[in-house]
Amino acid sequence: MRFFVCTILSLTYLFCIAQPRVEFGKQRLAAVAGRGRSIFISFDPSNRQKEAYTIDVDGNRIHIIASDASGALYGCLTLADMIKAQGYPRHHLHLSDHPGMVLRGACIGLQKTTLLRGRGPYEYPYTPQNFPWFYNKALWTKYLDSMVNNRLNTLYLWNGHPFASLVRLKEYPYAVEVDDATFRKNEEMFRWLTTEADRRGIWVIQLFYNIIVSKPFAEKNHLKTQDRNRHIIPIIADYTRRSIAAFVQKYPNVGLAFTLGEAMEGVGQDDIDWLTKTIIPGVKDGLRALGRTDEPPLVVRAHDTDGPADLAAALPLYKNLYIMAKYNGEALTTYTPHGAWADLHRKLSSVSQGLVENVHILANLEPFRYGSPDFIQHCVQAMHDIDHANSIHLYPQASYWDWPYSADSVEASAGGVRHEGVTATGGRDGSVWPEDGSGSRLLEMDRDWIWYKAWARYAWNCNRPRQEEIAYWSSQLAQKYGCDTAAGHLILDAYEKSGEISPKLLRRFGITDGNRQTLTLGMFMTQLIDPERYGLFTLLYESEGPPGEMLSQYAEREWKHLPHEGETPVDVINSTREEGRQAMAAIDAAASHVTANRAEFDRLRNDMYCYHWLAEFYDDKAAAALSVLRYNYSADRDDLARAYTALSASVDAFRELTRLTNGTYRYANSMQTPQRKIPIRGAGGHFITWREMLPLYEDELKHFRIHLDSMRTPGFQAAAPPAFQQADVQLEGGSYYVLDDGARPYSDTDLVIRNVAAPLRGLKALTFPSHDQRRAGTTLHFKCSEPVDLLVGFFEKKSSAFLPAPQLETDASANDYGQAEPRIANALILAGMPAVNVYAWSFKPGEHTLELGKGLCLILGFVKPTGRTRTYDASLNEPGKKNLDWLFE
Ligand code: SER
Repeated sequence: MRFFVCTILSLTYLFCIAQPRVEFGKQRLAAVAGRGRSIFISFDPSNRQKEAYTIDVDGNRIHIIASDASGALYGCLTLADMIKAQGYPRHHLHLSDHPGMVLRGACIGLQKTTLLRGRGPYEYPYTPQNFPWFYNKALWTKYLDSMVNNRLNTLYLWNGHPFASLVRLKEYPYAVEVDDATFRKNEEMFRWLTTEADRRGIWVIQLFYNIIVSKPFAEKNHLKTQDRNRHIIPIIADYTRRSIAAFVQKYPNVGLAFTLGEAMEGVGQDDIDWLTKTIIPGVKDGLRALGRTDEPPLVVRAHDTDGPADLAAALPLYKNLYIMAKYNGEALTTYTPHGAWADLHRKLSSVSQGLVENVHILANLEPFRYGSPDFIQHCVQAMHDIDHANSIHLYPQASYWDWPYSADSVEASAGGVRHEGVTATGGRDGSVWPEDGSGSRLLEMDRDWIWYKAWARYAWNCNRPRQEEIAYWSSQLAQKYGCDTAAGHLILDAYEKSGEISPKLLRRFGITDGNRQTLTLGMFMTQLIDPERYGLFTLLYESEGPPGEMLSQYAEREWKHLPHEGETPVDVINSTREEGRQAMAAIDAAASHVTANRAEFDRLRNDMYCYHWLAEFYDDKAAAALSVLRYNYSADRDDLARAYTALSASVDAFRELTRLTNGTYRYANSMQTPQRKIPIRGAGGHFITWREMLPLYEDELKHFRIHLDSMRTPGFQAAAPPAFQQADVQLEGGSYYVLDDGARPYSDTDLVIRNVAAPLRGLKALTFPSHDQRRAGTTLHFKCSEPVDLLVGFFEKKSSAFLPAPQLETDASANDYGQAEPRIANALILAGMPAVNVYAWSFKPGEHTLELGKGLCLILGFVKPTGRTRTYDASLNEPGKKNLDWLFE
């Protein structure tokens, strides 16, 4: 064993290793240590465990023996915590520890709640106007301190195209999109941040998306900043490769992570080429310029790309590749992942240096407080045991797009502290005053302390006995709220009971794991009884929960007296109702014991009430949905009467939720762009609160009442929407056919249309060779003098033969033309083919080129916009099925 020894507190100073991390640890120790003991820090290079340490107490001498600088830092922090809590250890002690996860990261988005004018998703230059907090060293220090206290060692900064804010290329000087003063500030902040992070054992990683270029670069070269259907072109590849090389050269301590998908053809050769011919060569160019021959880790995201294929192509060029995949999509749903998603995780783990589990966005937890140590511990165990991950990356619990703030509305009179920027907390309620004049705010990092602490604790070691964990968290909560541990245990109970609710509700009733759904704003009846109509993301049910049944499957099995399988909707209705009640009872029981942080406790208590009413809302509504689905089989009006009673109770529950959130929350969801779809489109900052949703749920109930009455009229029949009206366009090339039964849509096959939904009949549809569509995709060039909608049919099957329908889960541009949701579901039947759903692209007057990717689709014609965006389910695939959506609309 080789010792480099330094004493910190004894008078004899032997030798001190000048390591910033060790220095940081020593400072922390010095702050709590008195005189009279000697603490020696030494390294044991034979210990192969990374970040490991041993603390040995022997009489008056304490040894910290570490495997590396981070281990020494963590040894110092652990000893400092011990001294602070109990004074110097009196007895002989030998403690060894090291982390379970290799990379333990948190992320911050340099992103905003809405799109900037004239820019696409993720396009936010680093400027003081966009991100005043980015230039605030006091805020960063607070955040980095909280990271090191939690033993987190990686900090990811997420942005679409950071390079044009951070590097200037001599070949493309015009690409920089910030002014000179800002550019210099950015350089300074990056250097300062990476140095401060490094002292705390934290490695900063900059993330970017492909292929996004800066606005000035795009304008100068007459390109779009991002275009999913554009193939790689030499000037963009050259610009990006040079940007990456310059970045690596200029910021050698900053790591890189990247998204191969989204703004690039979903899955395909372009992703592979981009990784192997642009990104990796760019990194290597940068390393070469620095004279380095090592390979710092690169983190490739598996999002919207074929991760195993990307790695197979890249590994011969670069070995040190980590791959990051979303743990439960953009939500938290389960600690029993299974099926295809878990298979993919294991595969990714087996072919990389390590799999980084991305706890992404948490669209179903926003905005209420979440901190169930039990759920989180199980998740980290699943990451190791089921997904075979060795690293973790954690999003903020809420308000990712609005960092550093939480969504809480705190009253200015409650004592927020006015400062230049966010420089301090310390109001009576912990609030701060942002420079942007947005009133008193809470910092998300303060509010969600338990979220970070719990994930980090289990990322370090997930195999801690349950009884010890109950004692640990009860004591943490007792300290926080100035109560005894029995009351701390009650608060823990409230967190753990409420912690089951949103995961279960989403995985059993939701449309998607993606951030296009905000669970806490509720769902409409049609979304519960007919989720396919809203682009059901089936992976949610197939992989991201325990195996179980959807509402429609439950209703069918129940009617046919078939046995149920796995977690049923009724299980979730019953259990979340009970958990909501228990969370509320536990927090109420703790209330009279609280003597510290009262304002925050009251907010936590309010959140527990919100969870209770959220569960009541969903449980009543799901019960109503089951009665409606039963009516489909029974044709018994009593089923509808029962549905009405349950639906009415769910509206009452939502009214309570509205009352509790009014004045306490600014918004439910921090992503307020048109990409948000469920329960309703949320563009322009609308439909972000419960208050805005309540009248819609009241209307839904009213419609149901009216329709129930009208059903009593003999001969009543639900009406399909009116027929589309043909629109005039000047189309370059193309030949038409009349859309009707018996028509042949492809010029090179005999495929025949068997049935067409009434609103589409008679339209002038366009015929294409199927071979061309599959090989090269479909391109249309046209001019129009009035606004038009172009109707496109997508086959309802995932296969490389078919063009995939727009999908916001993997493509943020999938709604740029309002095309994200089908207008008519199950609208056409072709012999021997999957059913066809019809989507519409909306175009303004002008000249347009639409490029659709490879795969079969149907171009059904140009029509006059109807202003109707709701989906009609024509149900041509199931002729016997009664579609009951109209009952609620
Ligand atoms: N859907 C986007 C992504 O995964 C943003 O959350 O990158």
